[in-house]
Amino acid sequence: MSDPSLDTVASLPVARSVAALRRQVAAWRRAGKSVALVPTMGALHRGHLALVDRGRQLCTRTVASIFVNPTQFGPNEDFARYPRDEAGDAAMLVGAGCDLLYAPAVAEMYSADAAATIDPGPIAAGLCGRFRPGHFRGVATVVAKLLLQSGADVACFGEKDYQQLQVIRRVVRDLDIPARIEGVPTVREADGLALSSRNAFLAPEQRVAAPALHRTLREAARRLMAGEATAAQAVATAHLALAAAGFAPIDYVEVCDAETLVPVQGLDRPARILAAAWLGSTRLIDNVEARSP
Ligand code: PAF
Repeated sequence: MSDPSLDTVASLPVARSVAALRRQVAAWRRAGKSVALVPTMGALHRGHLALVDRGRQLCTRTVASIFVNPTQFGPNEDFARYPRDEAGDAAMLVGAGCDLLYAPAVAEMYSADAAATIDPGPIAAGLCGRFRPGHFRGVATVVAKLLLQSGADVACFGEKDYQQLQVIRRVVRDLDIPARIEGVPTVREADGLALSSRNAFLAPEQRVAAPALHRTLREAARRLMAGEATAAQAVATAHLALAAAGFAPIDYVEVCDAETLVPVQGLDRPARILAAAWLGSTRLIDNVEARSP
């Protein structure tokens, strides 16, 4: 029998409260099931479905959450215009074999006087953290809440948001939250553009320019790995290529230690080349691996 406290959207059971989520997870636990969580802000695409897929490989039940988290948006960011389509998202989740949608309202997630937050420490200070003050505090806080609310065994996150993934790994490790954090490779369009809910904001000519971000990072990684350029040279060339493709401003292009995200000069340890740059009013991010051959 299904739990009467669950809503249904597009034939997918939906928990709108922490209590309803916990009841469903407890019922699964009694039946010996393991639980994967796929945290999202909705506006789902194939990248999110790859996370659901990975969750289903690792656990016997998969919960996706949709919560456009206000605390990770700055005052001048796109919280209000962030795309929302719960029915469309639910239909995609059903197709992907997801078992439950958790879709709490803001008031369910944050009581009016909620004040405690999680500071992820130095890993959140550079890269996007430099341009989006408070963003990773908001992400860390909501992800910790989602993990504690669901009690999930595993939570899946895309490598496209690479700094977010490393921040979450760090927070889960430092706070002893008993969940495995699973990074899932970026899903791309045929021309290399990383799938993102924000791609919907790109005007047609910006969409044509957008794949230059991935191309540029791949070329930087190639030059670095071939020993044709130092990190500083690869970054400088990448800046020029992005500017030529129409990106402005370019928030950053950096070569960083793949785990700590501390900037590195060479490939004496696994590295990641990360970038964020704007096409009109849309900010795109991407990253690629770089390791010594
Ligand atoms: O990547 C996202 O969609 C969000 O940052 C997340 C992890 C769901 C937290 O709100």
